[in-house]
Amino acid sequence: MLASPHKSLNCVICHNPHKKYKFSIKTKCESCHVSQAKGFKGSTMEAVGVSCIDCHMPRATKSAVAYGKFFGDIRTHLFRINTDASAKMFYKEGKKTYANDFLTLEFACLNCHKNKDKSWASKMARGVHTAGK
Ligand code: HEC
Ligand code: HEC
Ligand code: HEC
Ligand code: HEC
Repeated sequence: MLASPHKSLNCVICHNPHKKYKFSIKTKCESCHVSQAKGFKGSTMEAVGVSCIDCHMPRATKSAVAYGKFFGDIRTHLFRINTDASAKMFYKEGKKTYANDFLTLEFACLNCHKNKDKSWASKMARGVHTAGK
């Protein structure tokens, strides 16, 4: 999270630490990002039940278990999505792998749009909040 645009926020601004994570969210994205929330309302994806965290916090982090190629076991707290089709989320330094400070489109989009590719996602990503409106 310290690599994210939310580095100035505390964990407990969003989470109530006395509750299990799914029930712990006390400040939602919509409270702070009012204009994005307004833009997203009424879009095709909002209508089918896709939410902010499906794209901005996919399970791109892995603590122990990888469930699939682009599917870890923990929601990322990187939040920012890089819409460039050639962007890479991870890079190697020696034998170690590190994450960049953004999410790439295979994590943000292709877990759901399984029959599409990154160049499609890149074309569709800009302005995706209001897609279908
Ligand atoms: C901007 C708001 C925000 C901040 C700041 C934030 N979180 Fe989260 N966190 C969330 C949301 C939203 C979820 C997803 C909840 C859900 O799945 O419904 C989440 C999920 C989690 C999870 C569960 C991950 C999983 O998939 O099992 C953990 C653990 C967690 N956060 C820890 C932290 C810690 C530790 C910090 C501080 C370093 C932090 N969070 C800061 C919003 C935030
Ligand atoms: C407590 C207020 C707060 C909450 C809750 C919050 N954010 Fe943010 N968010 C900020 C601030 C402050 C910034 C950094 C300043 C900025 O760029 O607007 C930011 C930046 C961002 C950025 C990068 C903006 C850019 O221009 O690149 C994204 C993406 C983002 N937030 C998504 C989310 C999502 C998704 C959630 C819900 C899981 C969320 N935020 C919850 C306050 C919040
Ligand atoms: C379908 C996936 C998707 C969903 C759902 C989604 N976003 Fe985004 N969001 C994106 C992408 C992709 C970008 C980057 C757009 C760009 O760079 O032009 C983005 C950009 C942002 C930014 C950065 C500033 C901006 O407007 O470009 C913020 C803040 C943000 N989203 C907040 C939210 C919030 C809050 C929600 C829920 C109400 C949400 N997003 C739902 C994909 C999504
Ligand atoms: C949680 C699953 C999920 C995620 C993540 C997701 N989508 Fe979607 N998206 C859907 C569903 C479901 C539909 C509606 C059925 C369809 O058109 O396939 C949809 C519809 C769309 C549409 C058609 C909207 C219209 O009517 O014009 C576009 C474009 C799109 N998604 C792009 C994206 C992009 C780009 C991303 C990543 C930034 C993304 N989606 C992330 C599930 C998702």
